[in-house]
Amino acid sequence: MKINQFISLKNYNSFQLNAQSHHFVELHERSDFKKLLDKHGGQSIFTLGGGSNILLVEKEISVLIAHINTKGIQTVNESDRNVQVKIEAGEIWDDVVQWTVERGYGGIENLTLIPGKIGAAPIQNIGAYGVELKDTLIACEFIDKSTGELREVDNAFCQFGYRDSIFKNELRNKVIITAITLNLSKDGFHQYNTSYGAISNHLLENFSNEINLTTIRETVRQIRTSKLPDPKIIGNSGSFFKNPIVSQQQLKHIQEQFPDVVHFPVDKDKVKIAAGWMIEKLDGKKWTVGGAGVHHKQALVLINKKNATGMDLLELSKRIQSNVFEHFGVHLETEVNIIDHKYTCQL
Ligand code: EPU
Repeated sequence: MKINQFISLKNYNSFQLNAQSHHFVELHERSDFKKLLDKHGGQSIFTLGGGSNILLVEKEISVLIAHINTKGIQTVNESDRNVQVKIEAGEIWDDVVQWTVERGYGGIENLTLIPGKIGAAPIQNIGAYGVELKDTLIACEFIDKSTGELREVDNAFCQFGYRDSIFKNELRNKVIITAITLNLSKDGFHQYNTSYGAISNHLLENFSNEINLTTIRETVRQIRTSKLPDPKIIGNSGSFFKNPIVSQQQLKHIQEQFPDVVHFPVDKDKVKIAAGWMIEKLDGKKWTVGGAGVHHKQALVLINKKNATGMDLLELSKRIQSNVFEHFGVHLETEVNIIDHKYTCQL
């Protein structure tokens, strides 16, 4: 386990920001976690997975970065209906989706092409096209950074919500996720989720409405690639903001001025407003700060147009937040983790 000095993080964050890490270590084995904590103490370590949901604001990062590369997928339980698989934190999320679909295991096919690694998935309860990680996750294993204790907790412990979990709140930066266990369905017992409008239309038009794990995965792949930029080509972090959840009363107020505001029901009192719609309505797709801009097909996605700095992206995000607040009276919360000075010097 070698600590590398002064390496560029350009290929380790999906915004492709050229920050420099002063101390960087790759973790390949489970035993590396313990070795690292014994030697450096947990509190001074920043854990990096696929780097697909972070904005590195600073150019120099002095905190020790641990890049998680532990691999392995193991069936831990199986019945006629279900299979339970435990997956190591360093596995790439979409490789795991492919692995499950190829074996006829259902549950995460709608989450195709979400960038990032397994260890980050529970932190923000990744979700797309009507499915969230919380729907299949049955266990999450982590190391407590301060005690070194390895724990496995159940779904309820994780307090999952919309792009939210205990790991973003009470346990923020306090643990390193080492593995998750998913409960997947076997052939004959799948519960396909095709209710999201774009999916059902696409299945009908392109696959004669033949619904199986492969056609759903391919459908999601085609929809995503048609509107979300490939981070390998245009640096981005997917949705930069969460879709805000507001009361019916607040919605009515917004509708007085914007009758066509796009919104989705959450429960009887609350609705989710399409943040991308609000940004587009304010002409936000044209806004730039330095090399940072807004994607022309999806206003919720901020992009590194040309040599953007973390500061450019941060300023653009603040400009969007203040404009949306001014016109709609709604605060846009960032979905992306802003890794600023207070993280990069010490945790
Ligand atoms: N819209 C616009 N203009 C835009 C973007 C969106 O008018 O520029 C409107 C459209 O009416 C569209 C609606 O907003 O019908 C919803 O847009 P979309 O289906 O693209 O979904 P989203 O709400 O913008 C969310 C997730 C995505 C996920 C999709 C599909 C969040 C923050 N984002 O985006 O997740 O892929 O739904 O389920 O909830 C991510 O988290 O990084 C991510 C990409």
